Amino acid sequence: MTSTVNGFGAAIPQGHEGHLGTETARREHGRLGRGAYRGPRTLAAARSALRVALPEPSSRYDQNDEWCVVQQPDGAWDEIRFHDYHRIFDVPGLYEKIFYDVLGCDTPRFMVNLLADALADAGEDASAVRVLDLGAGNGIMAEELATIGVAHSVGVDILPEARTAAERDRPGLYADYLVTDLTALGAGDSRRLTEHRLTALAVVAALGFGDIPPEAFRTAYDHVAEGGWVVLTIKDAFLAEDDTSGFARMISDGMASGALDVVRREKFRHRLATDASPLVYEGIVARKRGPLA
Ligand SMILES: C[S@@+](CC[C@H](N)C(=O)[O-])C[C@H]1O[C@@H](n2cnc3c(N)ncnc32)[C@H](O)[C@@H]1O
Repeated sequence: MTSTVNGFGAAIPQGHEGHLGTETARREHGRLGRGAYRGPRTLAAARSALRVALPEPSSRYDQNDEWCVVQQPDGAWDEIRFHDYHRIFDVPGLYEKIFYDVLGCDTPRFMVNLLADALADAGEDASAVRVLDLGAGNGIMAEELATIGVAHSVGVDILPEARTAAERDRPGLYADYLVTDLTALGAGDSRRLTEHRLTALAVVAALGFGDIPPEAFRTAYDHVAEGGWVVLTIKDAFLAEDDTSGFARMISDGMASGALDVVRREKFRHRLATDASPLVYEGIVARKRGPLA
């Protein structure tokens, strides 16, 4: 293990961004939104005080195994796996630091812009849309949705630390936030979701890789009204013919059968991997026209 900052990491002072921190460099890797996420002012100081370092860029990790080191208050460096979200959410600003400041993610804003385009084409008002934000994390998606006028978001995440972080860092954004496992949804939580009369499902940066499995996606989908919106991002490999995760069958079959009526579909660079290669995802905005097989 090395603790080298690989030239585009957190050691770059604010206002002096490295080669992949510039908008031009980020755009070389694919279509992005308007730029890096900035976030609430209260988090800005926490983010800039954090020190994060990546493995040397010559090392390559599966997306499941990516990690970084983070400096602790006593000066020691601690290794954190990217998928250890509970540890990341416990530290205000750390999620934003790693994924937005260092690795250039802009996915929630990108997807919300796609949804806003689709709503405009359909002549629908965002303020009428009631969103189930699955894998809601610390609330960045709800924050972006609010910028286009969505007034009712319901978060669902499997981690209590995610809800705690959302309430701590972005209070008041969710009408409700359930900590639950949708592969084993109880009757009480199912009723609670139904009572929100949901008309959209958003699943951003949360499908696959040991995160949200196909069955959980389907349960969430089943709680959204017919004609409602589905906003999702997924690694392109999960939609390939040789995919074994179950997503390709569920989503591609849904598109083929017309259950998922796609109105926007774009490949985009979700973020960088720790070796600075682009992680390419598909962003899909569709209307729910029927159940998934
Ligand atoms: C990369 S974060 C994305 C958070 C948020 N959607 C965003 O874009 O800022 C993935 C989130 O999915 C959640 N997650 C992972 N597996 C899950 C599951 N089975 N059910 C619900 N949430 C899950 C994680 O706890 C984490 O908050």
